[in-house]
Amino acid sequence: GLETKNHSFKPKFKEIHPTTKDDVVLPDGFKYDVIASYGDKINAAGDTFGFNSDFTCFLPIDGKSDHGLLWVNHEYLGELEYYVNGYDYLHADPDDNKRTPEQIQKYLYALGGSVIEIKKVQGTWKLVADSKYGRRVSGLTRHVLTGPAASIAKEVTGTFANCSGGVTLWNTVLSCEENYMDVVGDCKLPDAKHYGWVIEVDPFDPKSTPKKHTALGRFSHENTAMVLAPTGQLVVYMGDDAKDQYVYKYVSKAKYDPKAGKNNSKLLEEGTLYVANFGKGKWIALDYATNDALKKAVNGEGKPLFTSQADVLINCREASKAVGATPMDRPEDLEVHPIDGSVFIALTNNDKHGNFYGQIVRLFEKDNNHAGGEFTFEIFAAGGPQSGFAAPDNMAFDSAGNLWVVTDISSSSMNNGIYKPFGNNGVFFIPTSGNNQGQAAQFASAPVGAEMTGPWFTPDEKTLFLSVQHPGENLKDYSQPTSHWPKGGNAVALPSVIAITGF
Ligand code: FEO
Ligand code: CA
Ligand code: CA
Ligand code: CA
Repeated sequence: GLETKNHSFKPKFKEIHPTTKDDVVLPDGFKYDVIASYGDKINAAGDTFGFNSDFTCFLPIDGKSDHGLLWVNHEYLGELEYYVNGYDYLHADPDDNKRTPEQIQKYLYALGGSVIEIKKVQGTWKLVADSKYGRRVSGLTRHVLTGPAASIAKEVTGTFANCSGGVTLWNTVLSCEENYMDVVGDCKLPDAKHYGWVIEVDPFDPKSTPKKHTALGRFSHENTAMVLAPTGQLVVYMGDDAKDQYVYKYVSKAKYDPKAGKNNSKLLEEGTLYVANFGKGKWIALDYATNDALKKAVNGEGKPLFTSQADVLINCREASKAVGATPMDRPEDLEVHPIDGSVFIALTNNDKHGNFYGQIVRLFEKDNNHAGGEFTFEIFAAGGPQSGFAAPDNMAFDSAGNLWVVTDISSSSMNNGIYKPFGNNGVFFIPTSGNNQGQAAQFASAPVGAEMTGPWFTPDEKTLFLSVQHPGENLKDYSQPTSHWPKGGNAVALPSVIAITGF
C-alpha cells in the first residue's frame, strides 16, 4: 500500500495564551489592519457599512490577492442597538423600547450585508470609500424568491440575521438568514415566512436583485459549504443553529456546467433537500412526493402538517422531526476538507444536554460521493479545558487542509465559571492529519465581549480576513460597556472587519 509520510503540520506561529485583553492579540510577527467599521462610507452615494459584521468572503479582482471585493454579513443589533439608534443604554433595555418608524428603518438598514472594495497599499489593507462596487443589501432591499416555495410572495423586502455563508462555484455569494425571528419581532414585520432562507448576491453586479433560494429550506441557517459531487451534481451542506436542530444537504437535480457561469444559479432552484440521521448514517430526502412520513405527519388536532413540497421547505424543522432526523448540539459551520472531501461540522454546545464546550464532527460520505445517501462519522476534536478551546463556530481550511476555527463563548458566560480558563474568544489552528491531528493551537484572541467570525483567506493565503463581532457586548450587565476597541481610550467599541497579515 501507500506509505504515508509522518507529517507533523506544526503551526507556523508561536501560539498565544488565553487573555482578557481588550484587543485583537496575535502571535509575534503578525499584525492586523481595521478595514471597515460600522458606519464607514462604502460608495460615492454615501451608503454605510452595517453593524455586527459576521461572514466575510474575498472575491479577487483579476485573480489578485491584494485587490478585490469583500462581502460581509451584518447579523444583529441586540443589546448594542444603542450604537445605531441612540438609546440611553444606562436606562433603557432596547427590547423594552418602543421604536419609532425611523428607528425601525435604521435598524433594518444596519443589517444584511455589504459589498466593499478593498486594496492592499504598501502593506496595509484599505477600504475604497468611493467604489463603484460598494453596495448595501439590507433589511430594506428588494429580493426575489426562487424554487418550490417561491409562491409565498411575488417579492420580499429585506434580508437580516445574516450569520455565515459561502461562495458559489460561479463567484457569487450565499448569505444565511439565521435568527430572523428576533428581527421580525423587534421591527413588527408582517410575515416571518419571508425570512430564514439562503440568499444569493452577485457582488460584481451592483444592480442585480438578490435571490432567496427556497429549495434550500427554511430554518436558522448558519452557513453553506458547496462542493461538486463525482456525479456532477452540486451539493450544499448546511446546519440549523439551534438546540436539537439538524444537519442538511441540498443536492441539485441537474449537473454543474463550468461553461454556464452564473446560469448555474438555476441549480439552486431544483433539487432535493436531505436531513441527516446520525444513528443510521443516512441522508433522508425531505421530498413530499416520495416520503410517506411527510404525508402522514399530523398536528395535535390530527390535521396534516404538510400538503405540498412548499409546506415541507417552509417548515423544515417539523419535517425533519417527522422523518426521524437526529437532533444535534447546535450545528454551526460545515466545511468540506479541500484534500480528502470529508465534511467538518462545528457543534458549538448544547446546555440542554450538558454539552458546554462543543465538538467538531468529521463526516465521511460513502465512496466520497457527496450526492449519496450514506455516511459514517467520528468526533474529530472535542472542546474543553484539555483541548484549550470551547464553543467552536465558524471554520475555514487552508490549502494544506489545516482547520482554522473561531470560538463563540457567549458574552454572558465569557471569563466566568467553567469558561474562565479560556479568556476571551479566539481563533485556533487545528491540523487534520499528521502527529498533531486534532490538537488546537491558539492563533488569536478577540477584544472583550466579542467573537471573531467569518475567517477567510486570500488565494495566496498571505491574508486572513475576520470580523470582530459585538465588541463590548455584556449580556450580564447592560449598563457596563466592556470594550473600547478598536479606537481605545473612552471610544465606543465598533464592530469591524480586519485583515491579518504576517503568514
Ligand atoms: Fe449567528 Fe450560529 O451563529
Ligand atoms: Ca454571532
Ligand atoms: Ca455563527
Ligand atoms: Ca455561535
